[in-house]
Amino acid sequence: VRIVLTRTIQDVRKHLELIRRQSKRIGLVPTMGALHAGHASLIERARSDSDFVTVSIFVNPLQFGPNEDYLRYPRPLERDLEICENAGVDLVFAPEVTEVYASEQRTFVEVSRLGDHLCGAFRPEHFRGVATVVAKLFNIAHPDRAYFGEKDYQQLAIIRGMVKDLNFGVEIVAVPTFREPDGLALSSRNAYMSPAERALAPVVFQTLRAAKTSIEQGERRTDVVKGAAIKALSRESGIRVQYFEIVDPLEVQPVAEIHGEVRVACAVFIGNTRLIDNIAAVSPE
Ligand code: PAF
Repeated sequence: VRIVLTRTIQDVRKHLELIRRQSKRIGLVPTMGALHAGHASLIERARSDSDFVTVSIFVNPLQFGPNEDYLRYPRPLERDLEICENAGVDLVFAPEVTEVYASEQRTFVEVSRLGDHLCGAFRPEHFRGVATVVAKLFNIAHPDRAYFGEKDYQQLAIIRGMVKDLNFGVEIVAVPTFREPDGLALSSRNAYMSPAERALAPVVFQTLRAAKTSIEQGERRTDVVKGAAIKALSRESGIRVQYFEIVDPLEVQPVAEIHGEVRVACAVFIGNTRLIDNIAAVSPE
């Protein structure tokens, strides 16, 4: 076995220090494990432009709300290691919770404004938990580049904001959402769905695509695009829409009227499973 598994901060630092001394560029793919083809595409991208690929696997308690799925979130470590090995990952950092939060965490990273809407409106402490753990991972691993999927669009914007505001010397690389053939964005949470729920799921991306088409054909009225989308999603009795929003791509603020480039994003519940997805759209001049 070629892959190195590290479980402590001291150990991962020691390994990466040696790599840095060889002037190799370190790519970090932060994950919560339960790896799938979406993660594999992040790893592949990391392999193509970094010399040494590190994957972190850590289900971060700080980013889960009290009624969310922290305890039942899948943790198939053996399988994840195998996937990493096959994908050509050089090192995995899979710490215990007590390693990352060894003492009371008193310092938190909060990126203002960017988390006000979309998921941030429904998951109040979520992005503070994400930004804090990503800051810790950057300080532990000191990667040259770090890779994030566009599926978590708001997360990506917030991490970019944090890196800029706190002067992290890490280049953030965004990787396009990896989809099933029927359009469903890959997510570790897809496994929660029953076959009947899974059969409903493609309507999410179909609806985003329809919104994109409508915008690209000249519809500028946010209400009209949103209204049609919410109607289409609500037609399915097993689906509940949490939000469907059209935001500007950098500040992630809802736009009253659509001009130039926007991001169309939504969260829906299919049964008890919460799915998110988003798409870029550009309004014609
Ligand atoms: O996207 C995720 O899997 C997580 O939010 C991340 C970035 C690994 C932080 O825990």
